[in-house]
Amino acid sequence: MPVAELQSVSKNYGAVAALRGIDLAMEGGEVLAVLGPNGAGKTTAVRILLGLTVQTSGRAAIFGHAPGSHEAKLRRGAMLQVARVPETIRVREHIDLFSGYYPKPLKLAETIAAAGLGGVENRLFGELSGGQKQRVLFALAICGNPDLLFLDEPTVGLDVAARRGLWKHIREYAARGGSVLLTTHYLDEADALANRIAVIDGGRIIAQGTPGEIKQQGASAGLEDAFLSLVRENTNSIEEVLQ
Ligand SMILES: Nc1ncnc2c1ncn2[C@@H]1O[C@H](COP(=O)(O)OP(=O)(O)OP(=O)(O)O)[C@@H](O)[C@H]1O
Ligand SMILES: [Mg+2]
Repeated sequence: MPVAELQSVSKNYGAVAALRGIDLAMEGGEVLAVLGPNGAGKTTAVRILLGLTVQTSGRAAIFGHAPGSHEAKLRRGAMLQVARVPETIRVREHIDLFSGYYPKPLKLAETIAAAGLGGVENRLFGELSGGQKQRVLFALAICGNPDLLFLDEPTVGLDVAARRGLWKHIREYAARGGSVLLTTHYLDEADALANRIAVIDGGRIIAQGTPGEIKQQGASAGLEDAFLSLVRENTNSIEEVLQ
């Protein structure tokens, strides 16, 4: 059974077609990077798999359960692009609170070390720097030791050391059998972490494969050039249809 699955999923926000028939299936232990330009539909796909929004049509499941179900929520952790976190709670209290939802959470010290929060654990969230806040959001995603992690642009604003720390944690987590759906605009990050890449553009998956395969599809040595040529090709083909 796939860890996470979207079948023919479409999502309309009024007149905006954010997703147009997406099929995606993740296996256990997989690190899937979802790439795509701004507005491609990446966050929408993540929000559907988290049960935060409901698809207009198609089917979504986490471990065979409805994304919004209790069973699904106990097995996944998430870091969203825009997260509302109370400002007047201390870092360690936030982590304790979140850990409490899960049946087999990490030890507090382990979460703090993995997220690079040593030294600021007693500070109020509202008093942290942007990158420190981002580290807390990562801590809240991993502290429950879930089977599946959703990370929506997790390393935005992180310094080099924190970014590498996050990469290390993701690698170790996947090696232990955890699955990760990651979105990023840093293609070196996708290259470094993902064993599979899905490129979304205009609400459709336009390419899928290992980082090596994607580079070949884009007829290019680097992932960034391959990505740009795939997205450009897709834009051209949409324009041809419209003409
Ligand atoms: N709540 C919403 N109401 C209306 N339109 C929305 C909403 N959320 C997203 N959209 C639209 O849906 C489309 C896909 O947005 P989405 O956030 O999924 O893109 P994304 O791939 O995550 O982009 P980015 O790289 O900028 O984060 C965009 O056109 C966006 O404007
Ligand atoms: Mg997004």
